Amino acid sequence: MNMGDYPDDWLILAGDIAERPQLLDAAFERAAACFKQVIWVPGNHELWSVPDDNGVRLAGEARYQHLVSLARNHGVLTPEDPYPCWPGDPAAINVSGPLVIAPLFLLYDYSFGPQGLSREEIIAWAREEKSVAADEMLLSPEPYASLAQWCEQRCRLSENRLRKIDPKASTVLINHFPLRQDLVHIPRVPRFIPWCGTQVTKDWHVKYKASVVVSGHLHVRRTDWRDGTRFEEVSLGYPAQWTPSHGIAPYFREILPG
Ligand SMILES: [Fe+2]
Repeated sequence: MNMGDYPDDWLILAGDIAERPQLLDAAFERAAACFKQVIWVPGNHELWSVPDDNGVRLAGEARYQHLVSLARNHGVLTPEDPYPCWPGDPAAINVSGPLVIAPLFLLYDYSFGPQGLSREEIIAWAREEKSVAADEMLLSPEPYASLAQWCEQRCRLSENRLRKIDPKASTVLINHFPLRQDLVHIPRVPRFIPWCGTQVTKDWHVKYKASVVVSGHLHVRRTDWRDGTRFEEVSLGYPAQWTPSHGIAPYFREILPG
């Protein structure tokens, strides 16, 4: 991917780009040079409290806010920025009003796991099949008491903004984690599911009139449909899960016009 390769296109980065802030910063710089507009939502890997190249170890909300400032330095839109409208013609894709693009940062709260169990019991259940997420060691919720509490706060903040969208508009919702449990297709690690989202968002595609919902957590690129909404999981996965010699072009997924 070279400078100016996609001068008319927008790029969505759906999270888990890099763990070190300096590498994420370099990715923002490169993407911003290649695309007209870049949109980013954080994944769990970016939020891991690993030290940066100078040994500084930011965690939790402070880390998220730092990453947002890195994105903004490159003109990359984040979940903290005003929601842009898709610059294409909504009528061309059978949408009547404007199409609002909403990058979200919602996290997970273990509610995709077995019902009625505490977080500790869910972790023990996942451990039986060696499926406990590294987040348990590396993803700090500070200053919140738990990731579930941070997730609740993020969902509340996000809904407050989504409710204010023009009722005539449709949306493109972007969140690292899938919005619905029935979109989690991970047959090789089924007990990883508690770290994949929250039940709070299961009807957001209907509530907020989503034409498309984009996620990037599962390392399984696929398209699903629910209630007339297209769900695109756009992960590249780890470097071993794709072939760099093919270049990036075959791995892009067209969201709009779609
Ligand atoms: Fe992830």
